[in-house]
Amino acid sequence: MQQDSIERILVTEEQIRVRIKELGAQITQDYRNSEGILAVGILKGAVVYYADLVRQIGLPVSMDFLSCSGYGSGASSSGVVRINKDLDKDPVGKDILIVEDIIDSGLTLKYLKDLLWDRKPNSLRICCLLDKPSRRKAEIAPDYVGFSIPDEFVVGYGLDYNECFRNLPDICVLKPEVYGGR
Ligand code: IMP
Ligand code: MG
Repeated sequence: MQQDSIERILVTEEQIRVRIKELGAQITQDYRNSEGILAVGILKGAVVYYADLVRQIGLPVSMDFLSCSGYGSGASSSGVVRINKDLDKDPVGKDILIVEDIIDSGLTLKYLKDLLWDRKPNSLRICCLLDKPSRRKAEIAPDYVGFSIPDEFVVGYGLDYNECFRNLPDICVLKPEVYGGR
């Protein structure tokens, strides 16, 4: 049972819903003069968040996705980023909004930001659902953050441990014994 591995709920489904509505309104306001946003979702963790966020943006949104390897099956960053699936289209001249589940060390997003910036978009911003600022190693700050959270390993609402728990509706703290602590 997935529930047996959960210590507690950190952010509820309802809190997420309310916050994403606010983020969508803010993004809609900030991009009102844009010809359209290119929302780049980072697979697979951001999928659930992405689907909810884009529906709260009141502007034209094109969708594309990137998949990169990060943690493997463990719970701490290797710092090595490999692109498993690149964007379908060249983002030159576009207003890119990177949609990511969580920024932890920041190594993944720093790499992706540099990679996409080299492709000459008109603009590039980052919209993260969760931020663990105390764990930052790379110099990077997201432009939009859903929730700033303490240094705990969380799962649910798209986030996984070892490919499990992505379908939990709330963001939950995993029991440390499940991942061996850190
Ligand atoms: P970073 O490169 O350390 O910032 O790692 C970011 C990536 O690590 C995220 O996209 C997640 O896939 C994963 N990650 C970081 N912290 C957690 C967590 O608490 N739960 C699940 N995945 C996490
Ligand atoms: Mg991820």
